[in-house]
Amino acid sequence: MAANRDQWNSQIGFLFAAVGSAVGLGNIWRFSYMAYEHGGGAFLIPYVVALITCGIPLLVLEFGLGHERTGSAPLAFAKISRKAEFFGWWPVTFVMFGIVLYYCVIVAWCLNYTIYSLSFAWGSDPNTFFFKEFLKLPKTPMEIGGVNTKVLLSTAAIWFLNWLIVFRGIGKGIELANKIFMPLLFFLTIFLVFWALTLDGALDGVIAYLKPDFQKISSIGVWIDAYSQIFFSLSLGFGIMIAYASYLPRQADISRNAIWTATMDSLFAIVAGLGVFAVLGFMAHAKGLPISKVVTESIGLAFVAYPQALSIMPGGNFFGLIFFLSLVVAGLSSSISILEAFTSAVIDKFNLDRGFVVSAVCAVGFLGSMIFTTNAGLYWLDIVDHFITHYGLVVVGIAECIIGAWIFDIERLRRHINKTSSIKMPKIWDNIIRFFVPAILIIIVIGDLVAEFKAPYGNYPWFSLAMIGINWMLFSIIVAALFAKFPWHYEYMLYTPEEDEDKE
Ligand code: PHE
Repeated sequence: MAANRDQWNSQIGFLFAAVGSAVGLGNIWRFSYMAYEHGGGAFLIPYVVALITCGIPLLVLEFGLGHERTGSAPLAFAKISRKAEFFGWWPVTFVMFGIVLYYCVIVAWCLNYTIYSLSFAWGSDPNTFFFKEFLKLPKTPMEIGGVNTKVLLSTAAIWFLNWLIVFRGIGKGIELANKIFMPLLFFLTIFLVFWALTLDGALDGVIAYLKPDFQKISSIGVWIDAYSQIFFSLSLGFGIMIAYASYLPRQADISRNAIWTATMDSLFAIVAGLGVFAVLGFMAHAKGLPISKVVTESIGLAFVAYPQALSIMPGGNFFGLIFFLSLVVAGLSSSISILEAFTSAVIDKFNLDRGFVVSAVCAVGFLGSMIFTTNAGLYWLDIVDHFITHYGLVVVGIAECIIGAWIFDIERLRRHINKTSSIKMPKIWDNIIRFFVPAILIIIVIGDLVAEFKAPYGNYPWFSLAMIGINWMLFSIIVAALFAKFPWHYEYMLYTPEEDEDKE
């Protein structure tokens, strides 16, 4: 059974897929804003420290667990202890029945906007266009209204693409798609960045983005944000990297792949930020406003600020087309990784046919996405995203460290990793996973909880937060617990013969 496990055709194919998962919307629209807010160039200090002390060690842990135990997160953890299995199911459940449902809707908006760029469909007021005409956003999250047909159609298209890629399996599907997507994304991004840098005022934007302010990094909040950004950006705590690494051949360079994945993810974020701020600099210059008046992040950046800039930019239609297309490509390569994390878990546990699982998962996924295509969709996704990315991820991160380091044997895992890796993990890695990473994650949760009780997130009514956000979390916990309770189709898969233990 385990011998039939799908495999990557090449190490580079695996690397592209891991980078594809890591590089997503967050790199394009979140990193640069965070850097700008948190001390510009000086923010690189906490960011790189977080990368080295938490991002790379945890990525090595996830790759190592998936490879050594040869399984998706639930299988890998169940092979360590049946009691740990739940912590494999929970992330793949909340990412599948949470994140990917709205992630696909955002990618779908980008698809709509790719087409809108051709005619500047947003007219002279992109803000009103986006919120009122395109989304038809009501006043509160509970006024759901109807499903938005334009968004529903593009969401269906995105789900179809996801289905098509994951259905074809690891080598012919995910690997092939990423081998096309990643070079394409890098090429498009470099093209846009160079173009953006030639615009009038671009330099002022870049200066605002990178001008170091060392004062700022003395604040603990900046460090917490740096660690959370690294965590989210490397797709850690979702069970994704565990699943991807389980398809590696026995001889695989775990640590080098982890270091490359992390480096490419960060470089991509930093470079994409140059493009983002060059465009903002151009807009500030054209409108005679200070940069601080035009900067925004995430949805406001892509769907309001960028359209405003595109309308006044020479060649703006084409720039917009490429920009939104890059968002679609970056988003798709992340969403397929989410689908695969869940799909591989179900296949491992129930030994079902991949085609059947992927089709069922995509059908359910599309139906689940529908709530986010309603008029109140934006509110719902904001709330669900807040709870899952702030609490789900971090709790799973802590659980992973405990399972890998305390319940399993971190030294044995390191021996395994070092046996086939060209870059050897030093002994200090054991203690980073044992103590340091869990401690950081606990600090992050405490910081989040304090903020939570100070004021309701996003000024939403408490009732909406509880009904949507907290219930969503509870639902994912129950579903995950049910999956964990089911018996394994092949119980023997859970036993790794002792001779598999890698002796030095
Ligand atoms: N890492 C992706 C980003 O930076 C986000 C992501 C989230 C990817 C969840 C997969 C799963 O945007």
